Amino acid sequence: MRRALLLLAILFTYVVMIWGGMVRSTDSGLACPSWPLCYGDFSLPKDLSARMEMGHRTVSGLAGLFVFLSTVAVWRNIGGPAKLTTGIALLFTLSAALTGMKMIKSEAPHLKYVEHMLLESFHIYESMIILGALVVTYRLLYKKEGESYIPIWVYVPALVTIMTGVLVRYTGSGEACGHEWPTCAGYLVPPMDDWKVALQFTHRNLAYITWLMFLAYLLRFRDKLALFAFLLINVQFVFAVSMVLSGFFLPLVFLDTASGFFLFAFLTYHVRVRL
Ligand code: HEM
Repeated sequence: MRRALLLLAILFTYVVMIWGGMVRSTDSGLACPSWPLCYGDFSLPKDLSARMEMGHRTVSGLAGLFVFLSTVAVWRNIGGPAKLTTGIALLFTLSAALTGMKMIKSEAPHLKYVEHMLLESFHIYESMIILGALVVTYRLLYKKEGESYIPIWVYVPALVTIMTGVLVRYTGSGEACGHEWPTCAGYLVPPMDDWKVALQFTHRNLAYITWLMFLAYLLRFRDKLALFAFLLINVQFVFAVSMVLSGFFLPLVFLDTASGFFLFAFLTYHVRVRL
């Protein structure tokens, strides 16, 4: 029961994150005039954007419920670090709900001001903390001893790349380099006077460093886990480059988000942390 609840919490949190990405890509963030209910009651909105946003809120509510139930299940029967990690997941679920409300009240999805961009990015980081804390809980309770692991020097560059990717998206810097790759705004190394170009160029370069780390990891470990991780990073590259070259074709934006956060959960499950 506890295992099933934890898996549901992980699954729903992940779905919330990609659904949130779709809300952003379709500019549906402000489609519902009130909060928490779209029109103040339970009626199904007619407008597609409002349905998208209402759907996002519903899935977030379910994710919150599963996080709460898994926390109760862990706290009642198990002690130790799992108590702390579920506590963190629950705390950030509450704070993410408050941030979501603040975003809508301040019309942050228009991304007009830097504070709004940071608020939106912070909201995604909150979701990453929830997903990460749940995955670590699962790992603490159910990962078998002796399974292979991913070294921290592979995890850290990937995490930084994912975090800068979130910033690229939520500062509206996605199109700063134009629809081109490997060039950015017409250059292999673009002028950095526009901070949005500089941000995306940094994200791209971090991605190259990450790819090299995954290659080094594969060559050194030569096991199934290293091969699968290398495959995942290449899939992420293919989605990212196709998204840019296609001029941000929605299904590719969706796949980029979905694979980015899957990669995050996968790496967090397998990373080796020596204390
Ligand atoms: C290690 C490989 C990479 C990882 C792990 C990664 C990860 C991410 C993540 C997690 C996001 C945010 C998605 C979201 O919040 O919905 C993102 C956004 C983005 N990434 Fe990457 N990325 C990688 C490689 C690349 C490459 C090679 C490019 C350039 C071709 C690129 C261009 C972008 C752009 C333009 C966005 C913003 C998308 C938007 O505005 O909708 N990424 N990335």
